[in-house]
Amino acid sequence: METGSALAALWLLSTCACSFSPKETNPLLYEEQLLWVSGVQGAVNTYRIPLLTFTQKGSLLAFSEARKSSSRDLGAKFIAMRRSTDKGATWSPTSFIVNDGEKLDGLNLGSVVVDEELGLVIVVYVLCFNHNHCFPSSTMMIESWDDGLSWSSPRNLSVQLGVKSFAPGPGFGIQKRYNPAKGRLVVCGHGTLAGNGVFCILSDDHGSNWYNGAALKSIPYNQQKRAQDFSPDECQPVELTDGSIVINVRNQNSYHCRCRIVVRSFDGGLTLPVDNLFFDYELVDPAVAAGALLKDGVLYFTNPSNENKNFLPAPSLSGVNLTLRWSLTDGKSWEKKAVQLWAGPSGYSSITSLDSGSADDRKYIFVIYEKGHIDYDETISLAKIHLYGGR
Ligand SMILES: *[C@@H]1O[C@H](CO)[C@@H](O)[C@H](O)[C@H]1NC(C)=O
Ligand SMILES: *[C@@H]1O[C@H](CO)[C@@H](O)[C@H](O)[C@H]1NC(C)=O
Repeated sequence: METGSALAALWLLSTCACSFSPKETNPLLYEEQLLWVSGVQGAVNTYRIPLLTFTQKGSLLAFSEARKSSSRDLGAKFIAMRRSTDKGATWSPTSFIVNDGEKLDGLNLGSVVVDEELGLVIVVYVLCFNHNHCFPSSTMMIESWDDGLSWSSPRNLSVQLGVKSFAPGPGFGIQKRYNPAKGRLVVCGHGTLAGNGVFCILSDDHGSNWYNGAALKSIPYNQQKRAQDFSPDECQPVELTDGSIVINVRNQNSYHCRCRIVVRSFDGGLTLPVDNLFFDYELVDPAVAAGALLKDGVLYFTNPSNENKNFLPAPSLSGVNLTLRWSLTDGKSWEKKAVQLWAGPSGYSSITSLDSGSADDRKYIFVIYEKGHIDYDETISLAKIHLYGGR
């Protein structure tokens, strides 16, 4: 009898679809809902810049900039947040977790990073990024110790980092899961159009102390740019299983191509040598903030996949065709079969997934993105993607 049930258990184990091989990846849209709609909810004019993260407890947290009186990057804003404890099926009402008051050059998001060792969620954002009627720019941080239910008051990281215009993300930061520098928090972002580049800030003590790490500077640095100058901009870091960090970067002035810049750090975000930089011609891009995520050996990437140029400065975005791609080779090549999530106007995107190890969590990723009919900033949408659905 005992042997029989042990055998039955073994049989169940070997036939349950608990693990999938990367080759079986075949994403299909599972469900989608609008988390924010611009212009109709209360006092907010426009929602933009979506961020998304998992938490240690298996919740999903979505954030956006709630722009109070216009769609512009400047102006006063809230940080809006919604929370899902049922894998994206339902979401809490919006809470406004930061309010910058009446500022002419208010807050800009941002990067969300989970400290998986402590179960802590951190959001890093910037105040006065453009020095428009204000000085200096400040890098700010809030944190939640209770799964996103409550948030600390803002802390000014520029006291430790020095004052410099640094716009984190938009997207997520990482906590290193592998050596070198296992446990380190790595938040990457960009500078102003003149002082542009990819810059990473690092913390080796769970966000108590921060210091400046890698800098990949634009050329000519701290000078007015021309078309086709080298100007790495908004970026998304991803840790590979060899412990290196691959950063997928907006190519602001379309230097060399209308495609993504990819650069890699082998020392936990301390340096980004140009030796480790390439242009990914397959990832054509109108110069936006794109999404990237590594899950179970597959690298995912989302952006409005087209070469419509471009706009200086943001946000007169002309993106359409929000597309999900995947790579079985850590981004060295991309599978030919991409999935279009939205044919129309679309802009910034970010990806996350739950990672409990359960069979169910292995099947899905979540994509948050700017989506509209006439313009990309009409709504912020959350798409749940079944990774093995499209047979
Ligand atoms: C943040 O700290 C910097 C450096 O001390 C300071 O110059 C800046 O005014 C502070 N910002 C805010 C919003 O308090
Ligand atoms: C959208 O992206 C797909 C995948 O790259 C491509 O085949 C298609 O031509 C694109 N459509 C437009 C309108 O750019």
